[in-house]
Amino acid sequence: MQSYIEDLKQKDGETVQIRGWVDNLRSSGKILFLIVRDGTGRTQCIVSKNDVGEETFERAKALSQESSVTITGKVRKDDRAPGGVEVQTSAIEIHQVASDYPITPKEHGDAFLLDHRHLWIRSRQQHAILRIRAEVVRAIQEFFDTRGYLRVDSPILTGNACEGTSTLFETDYFGERAFLTQSGQLYVEAAAMAFGKVYCFGPTFRAEKSKTRRHLTEFWMVEPEVAYLQLPGLLELAEQFVTHIVQSVVKNRREELVALERDVSKLEKIEPPFPRIRYDDAIRIAQQKGSTIEVGSDFGAPEETLVSEEYDLPLMVTHYPRQVKAFYMARDPENVERVLCLDMLAPEGYGEIIGGSEREANLDLLLQRMEEENIPRKDLEWYLDLRRFGTVPHAGFGLGVERTVTWICGIKHLRETIPFPRMIHRIYP
Ligand code: 4AD
Ligand code: MG
Repeated sequence: MQSYIEDLKQKDGETVQIRGWVDNLRSSGKILFLIVRDGTGRTQCIVSKNDVGEETFERAKALSQESSVTITGKVRKDDRAPGGVEVQTSAIEIHQVASDYPITPKEHGDAFLLDHRHLWIRSRQQHAILRIRAEVVRAIQEFFDTRGYLRVDSPILTGNACEGTSTLFETDYFGERAFLTQSGQLYVEAAAMAFGKVYCFGPTFRAEKSKTRRHLTEFWMVEPEVAYLQLPGLLELAEQFVTHIVQSVVKNRREELVALERDVSKLEKIEPPFPRIRYDDAIRIAQQKGSTIEVGSDFGAPEETLVSEEYDLPLMVTHYPRQVKAFYMARDPENVERVLCLDMLAPEGYGEIIGGSEREANLDLLLQRMEEENIPRKDLEWYLDLRRFGTVPHAGFGLGVERTVTWICGIKHLRETIPFPRMIHRIYP
């Protein structure tokens, strides 16, 4: 019966079948050392001529990287072996000998690896990253599902722009104009008025024309939305949420973090309270550190880095000027030029991972903002109904999965954190 490599530790002395792919082969005369990968791990299979016979031994010698094989053999504890065990092979079934596998242990360029993403995901480093991503996704769902939030997924095809018209992917919808969603927020606002505490979680799309390390055109976002929640409560929710994600990875995916040479001690320190500063103070810090940014303009990546590198914890920046933020953000009653919003900046220069706010609950003020931003009212009449029928203060945020995984993994570029990245000039494979 088939065994998975990750379970071999518990099978000392048993005869097992491993079904996988050849990672590497070394030979020392009468013995072959075959490293086999099956998706759950890698293990060394010892193949000796005496055990498998002359003919199988000769065929095994020709096994190249990524050849597919079923190995039958006896599990043997060996503390020196990776995974703590090795397999004394008694039979090999060869499904295919793969010739000229394009990804070799030597260094390859970024474009080459991205063109071969369908194969690249077999490599060790990509395994570690994608397993961490899966843990982040699991922890996200666990956090909300165990706190009484209802998952209410928002549509992917939509008739409105949530985050401005400059990054919309447009498509024809039976003669009408439709877009791929930039954010599920407007829909989870409706759901929050129906169910109180909700979240949506799925892919979102932005036609980002800039080529940066932080931008994908298709990325995953989780968006909680809570009726009666206000800015202070939103900040607490955000810091607890991010802590839960990070500590879940530290606990359940430590091996992968180590494989990526991540400094795990930096992640272990992530716990509430996270520092909070206002936009105006953040601008002052950036200016003191040499930035020419002026009050009133939006933060760019360089300013985010300048300010957040002052802290070991994620930094929560609030009260941005309303003209640099979306139409739906609630204005600060103490200063109408500012909005009750939150950007969370990850430490170590990773930049924004969360954007959110209290929402404008007042119909007239919301209409004013839509007019200022030239947002056509007819597409959003349904949204305005939420302010007509039992409007209440409410708040929510969106956390980008890939930005978060990039920071947790401590890697440079977010394109490795999604199985098949979509970026400007990249739709293949
Ligand atoms: O700050 P953003 O634009 O906020 C919203 O979309 C709100 N409607 C969310 C809400 O309040 N429900 O995006 C939220 C997060 C960012 O902080 C970032 O992590 C991620 O989404 N993000 C991207 N990730 C990868 N590539 C891009 N092009 C991204 N744009 C935003
Ligand atoms: Mg943002």
